[in-house]
Amino acid sequence: MTLREELVAPAAEALTNPYLEGPYAPQAQEITAADLPVLSGEVPRDLDGVYVRNGPNPQFAPLGRYHWFDGDGMLHAVHFDSGRATYRNRYVRTDEFTTERAAGTALWRGVIEPWDTNPPGDRRERNAANTDVVFHHGNLLALWYRAGKPYALDPITLETRGADTFGATLPCEVSAHAKVDEHTEELMFFDYGIHAPYLRYGVADPSGKVVHHTGIELPGPRLPHDMAITENYSILMDLPLYNDPRAAAAGRFKLFFDRELPSRFAVLPRRGTAAQVRWFEAKPGYIYHSVNAWEEGEEIVMIACRVARPSPVTDRAHPLAQLLAYLRPEATLYRYRFNLRTGTTAETPLDEVNTEFPAIDQTRTGRRGRWSYQMRLSVDRTMLFDAVVKYDVRTGDKQTQPFGDGIFGSELTVVPRPHARDEDDAWLTMFAHNNHTGRSEVWIYDAADVTAGPICRIGLPARVPLGFHATWVSGARMRAAAQPLG
Ligand SMILES: [Fe+2]
Repeated sequence: MTLREELVAPAAEALTNPYLEGPYAPQAQEITAADLPVLSGEVPRDLDGVYVRNGPNPQFAPLGRYHWFDGDGMLHAVHFDSGRATYRNRYVRTDEFTTERAAGTALWRGVIEPWDTNPPGDRRERNAANTDVVFHHGNLLALWYRAGKPYALDPITLETRGADTFGATLPCEVSAHAKVDEHTEELMFFDYGIHAPYLRYGVADPSGKVVHHTGIELPGPRLPHDMAITENYSILMDLPLYNDPRAAAAGRFKLFFDRELPSRFAVLPRRGTAAQVRWFEAKPGYIYHSVNAWEEGEEIVMIACRVARPSPVTDRAHPLAQLLAYLRPEATLYRYRFNLRTGTTAETPLDEVNTEFPAIDQTRTGRRGRWSYQMRLSVDRTMLFDAVVKYDVRTGDKQTQPFGDGIFGSELTVVPRPHARDEDDAWLTMFAHNNHTGRSEVWIYDAADVTAGPICRIGLPARVPLGFHATWVSGARMRAAAQPLG
C-alpha cells in the first residue's frame, strides 16, 4: 500500500459533544492510499467505479454548540479498478471553509445556535456541503441539507473544482437530495428557504445547464429534506414539521410538529410549472428520505422511510437532547400511492423496524424496483447504523444482517454486476467502522444474500468518521461524461 498524507488542519478541539468524539471525531489528514490491503475475500475485478460518501468533518473547534449537520463536508472515496482499490478523502473547499482556513478559526455559528445578526459572509448560515453527493455532468456535487451553492469536485481526485453555477444558469440554491435520472442524465433539484414561494424546483440537462425552473408556493417556510422522481414526474414535499414561527421571529430555531396538518405531496411533470402541480394529502408525519418512486397505470407509487411521530426532544434529561433528537429518525418503511385520476392517496406501512438511509440500484431511480438496502438504527442516543436490512419494497419482507458488536455501517451503494440478469445481481459497497479497534474497512456484499456477510473486506489507512450520504459513480458514466457532448 502506498500512502500520501497531507496535514491540512488541526483536529477540532473541545471534544465535549458526542458528534465530535469516538467514531464521529473529525480526521485531520487528507490521504491518498493506493493498493489497499484485502483482509478477506477478493476485490471483484469487474467492480469498476467510485464509491464516495459525504460527511461532516469540522476543521476547527465550533463556536458554541456543535450539531452534526455543521461540520465541513469531507468526501471519502474508494476507487475500484481491475481488482485494485484506492482510498482518498478530501475536504469540500467551500467559500466558508476557505475563509475560516485563512482566519485559522471557526467564524460561523452552527445551526442550533441563535442566529447571527452579523454573519461573516453573505448568508446567515454556513454552507457546509456535507450532506449529500451526486454525480452529474462529469462532477461530483456536494450538497448541504439546508440548501446552498452546489460544489463540484473531481470524481477521482476529489479536488474541489469550485461552486457550480451550472454555466451561470442556476437561479437558486440546491438542497441535498437532488436526483439524477441515469437514463437521461438529467438532474432534478429543489431549493427551499424562508422567502416566498418557499420551495423551488428545477431541471438541469446532461450539459449541466438549467433548462427548467419553477417556484412552488407553500403556506410558509418548511423543511423538506428529500424529493422523488419517476420517468415523467417529480414529487416534492410539504410536511408539517418546521421551524416554530415564534422561535423564528425571535431569531432562533426550534422544531415544531403540527399534528393537525396533513402531509402534502406536490406531483408535477418533470418539466412542469407551478400551475401543473397536483397536491396529494396524507397523514401527518415527516420523511427524511424517499426510497424510490415510479408510475403504475394511473398511480404514482412512492416508497419512503416515514416518521409517524416526529419528536424534537425524546430525552429531556440529556443535556444534548435537543441536538440529538433533532436529527434522530424513528422511521419505518412506508408506501404511498397517489392516484392521478381520483386525486386520492393510499398509504400502507410496510414494516415496523427503524431503518433509514435507503439505497437502491441508482439506474432504477424513478423506475419500478424491488429492492432497497437500508441501515438499521441502533437504540443508542446518537446516530449509529448496526445492521443492513434488505427490503422487498413490494411486501416489506426483509433480510437483516447485523454488522457485529461495536461495528457501525455507512450508507451503502448498489453496484449492478456487468450483464446482471436480476435486480439484486449486484454488489453492495459500504464503509464499516469498528469502534473497539478504531479502524475502518470497506465491505463488499453480494446483494443477493446479505445474510452471508461481506464477501470482501478491505483495510483502510485511517478511520472514516461516520457520516451521511453516498453515491456510486460507474466507470462507464465517468468515461461518458469525459466525452464531448454530441
Ligand atoms: Fe439526507
